[in-house]
Amino acid sequence: MCGIVAYVGYRNAVRVCIQGLAELEYRGYDASGIVFVANGTLEVVKELGRPENLRKKFVDGLPNSRIAIAHNRWATHGVNNIENAHPHSDCEGIIFLAHNGIIENACGLRENLSLRDHRFKSTTDTEIIAHLIEESNKVVGLEEAVRTVLAGISGSYALVIISKKEPEKIIAARNGSSLWLGMGNGEFFVASEPSAMLAFTKSALPLVDGDIAVIENGSLVISDARGERVHREFRNVTWNVEEAKREGYAHYTLKEIFQGPEAVGNSIFDRIKEGRPACADDSKLREKIRRARRIVSSACGTALYSLELGKYFIEQYAKLPVEVEIASEFYTKNSIIDVGDVFLTVSQSGETLDTLEALRLAQSKGAFSVSIVNKMGTVIPSISDIAIFQNIGREVGVASTKSFLSQAAILLLLSLEFAKIRETLVEDMEEILQGLKNVPALMRKVLAQSENVRALSTQYSHFHNFLYLGRKFNLPVAFEGALKLKELSYVHAEAYGAGEMKHGPLALIDKDFPTMAIAPRDSVYEKVISNIEEIKTRGGPLIAIATEGDERIGRLADHVLYIPETHEALSPFLTASILQLFAYYVALDRGCDIDTPRNLAKSITVA
Ligand code: F6R
Repeated sequence: MCGIVAYVGYRNAVRVCIQGLAELEYRGYDASGIVFVANGTLEVVKELGRPENLRKKFVDGLPNSRIAIAHNRWATHGVNNIENAHPHSDCEGIIFLAHNGIIENACGLRENLSLRDHRFKSTTDTEIIAHLIEESNKVVGLEEAVRTVLAGISGSYALVIISKKEPEKIIAARNGSSLWLGMGNGEFFVASEPSAMLAFTKSALPLVDGDIAVIENGSLVISDARGERVHREFRNVTWNVEEAKREGYAHYTLKEIFQGPEAVGNSIFDRIKEGRPACADDSKLREKIRRARRIVSSACGTALYSLELGKYFIEQYAKLPVEVEIASEFYTKNSIIDVGDVFLTVSQSGETLDTLEALRLAQSKGAFSVSIVNKMGTVIPSISDIAIFQNIGREVGVASTKSFLSQAAILLLLSLEFAKIRETLVEDMEEILQGLKNVPALMRKVLAQSENVRALSTQYSHFHNFLYLGRKFNLPVAFEGALKLKELSYVHAEAYGAGEMKHGPLALIDKDFPTMAIAPRDSVYEKVISNIEEIKTRGGPLIAIATEGDERIGRLADHVLYIPETHEALSPFLTASILQLFAYYVALDRGCDIDTPRNLAKSITVA
């Protein structure tokens, strides 16, 4: 995600903040900006690119301000330009703020503010908050105005705010996005993670969701979501800078697995409007989908498996056939695709060369192209007819984890949107949409069992081969789970449709070849149970992922990992999270280089 740093104290605040931003560069460096006091007023400086570029803007040296708020942007809402860089301000340039997270109800709020003559300089969701505080601050004090505005906002935020009228005060607030306070001798720091302030202080505390902190005149007051004053303890952070970037997680990969719920939340925020899916509200796309005979789709690796899952969603709900093909094959064999087809692709990086070539081929033959991408400003979204952004911040670990979950969430929403367009009856649409909103909470419950997964992984980490089985919505998850195990732990794993296994791979099964069977209680449950029995009869060790309360599977499998009950189209979010954890812990046990597995790279720009 983006990075925030703010400072008030006796040091040069501009220097402290730019140095802090440099520590947060790994989170994104599309643009950076800072607000500080100069000549008795607030001044803002922004620049595209790394914090070093921002530093270079101060050709006459860094101004000697004692207070500043600053931000590194990783573009999500709105293209990467100076106008969209933080800090953002209100109409009069009085309130300035920097924000991490996503405001769900930004569209409606922006419309209402426009009707009340507010003028916007950027296309970000963040700027809306500045205008809302501007209005409220005309009636009540700054702190009260912030509290009132935040009460009317849905979404996630870590915020730092400063006002021209009170240029010695910083307000910091958090809800669903990390924000830390640091304390020195008569000085305070605010940062989205402690690495940004470790060079100056080790005394830090993480704000809690709902907290609003007011820092002024060397004092700090924190109040909670109900507005009541709370005491939070500063503690001595013993992490080095690298550990602090991982916020205590041993690896970025683990941190990103735990960011899965937030990633799903950010990917669907603002894309369910008035109870309807609204991912790609575009008249041309609607027309194309209405008339299409099929969707042709192509991508690589994890992105390909998310498309495989998307195929199940789209065929089930929009009743539109979807062909999925490996991108490197799709373009080398000059696949058949034409003007009547919609081409769908997914790419976290937005620049995978094989995927790009597949997209170019589809476009050269006249297909209408839709891409789902995480990184803005990259080539794949820029040449697609429609680009849908994942909004999940940067993924640092080479293996995709939170990306897969976010892509799956967008594809599920798209399938329901296509169903609406094609007027196919989805009786459980309401239930799925409501359930999807609740998925992040269920995923957190699943991740809370990480110690069980860890203990189990240790028992299995000496095996050299694994079979992953799934059916229907959980077949693509089996493929993705096996891929995670391969790339993180270098253990061979292959995935099969549970029903297909008896046509060959069953011959592999013996006491040294464990099976991971994904078996939630869904419409294919009984069939998966039969497949599991075939394995047990052959003496293969068996782990099952099952629905809470399923005692029957407990009698069959050697070990069971449980997920909460949910709609069957939503179970992949829970089963995939467990499989990510399992692969991570097996890799940990085997001493692998988890964040940068051997032979792999995050962005593959060669064919
Ligand atoms: C697996 C993984 C890769 C990528 C693939 C496509 O964990 O990360 O398989 O999914 O290289 O990358 P993007 O999505 O950037 O096109």
